[in-house]
Amino acid sequence: MKKNQDTFYKSSLSRWHDYYAYVPFSEKVFLDFKENLPTYINTIIYFGCGGCRNLIPFNGKYNLIGIDQVDIVIPPKELINFTYYKMDLAIEGFTLDIDLTNSLCISHGCFMYIEQHQQINIITDLKNKGCKNFLLQEYDNEISDYPGDYYPFENFHKFEKCMYHPNNIMHTWKQITY
Ligand SMILES: C[S@@+](CC[C@H](N)C(=O)[O-])C[C@H]1O[C@@H](n2cnc3c(N)ncnc32)[C@H](O)[C@@H]1O
Repeated sequence: MKKNQDTFYKSSLSRWHDYYAYVPFSEKVFLDFKENLPTYINTIIYFGCGGCRNLIPFNGKYNLIGIDQVDIVIPPKELINFTYYKMDLAIEGFTLDIDLTNSLCISHGCFMYIEQHQQINIITDLKNKGCKNFLLQEYDNEISDYPGDYYPFENFHKFEKCMYHPNNIMHTWKQITY
């Protein structure tokens, strides 16, 4: 894992207990949508979950799944009750053989580490497994100088590209099917 990823990952670990007090602009999108999701959604899958704090808004109401390429530090179960799968999406792709018809896939700075053709393969696989709902919060190389391995995330499966909060240097690539 690159050093900047490692630093970000460690800093995110301390944000479980003060999640609601802290929530930066770039993460408010999950709070915005948590009350307005289609009622058939019962599972949230978080790609590149890191410290998993963005699962907190959905805790208790959904089956929660976190996916990351590293051994994450598992948060206290009373704060986030979820199942973790270690998976390198760039190398393995999405390997869970599950029906995603009732799922929402979310990310917060994960797909930007994965080359565009792999991003496309993963999203295609998720769609083939039935997923119709995506909230992918990623940096945009036109407005961000985030020092990661950024790859273009444009025209992504015709998802709607939105900017939900002023001062947010991330964009949301969205598809919600009601
Ligand atoms: C910038 S951090 C964001 C972490 C978390 N989403 C957050 O907001 O705190 C990027 C995360 O994506 C994960 N990641 C990067 N490349 C990945 C890959 N190929 N497969 C799975 N996870 C990956 C990293 O391990 C890291 O936890």
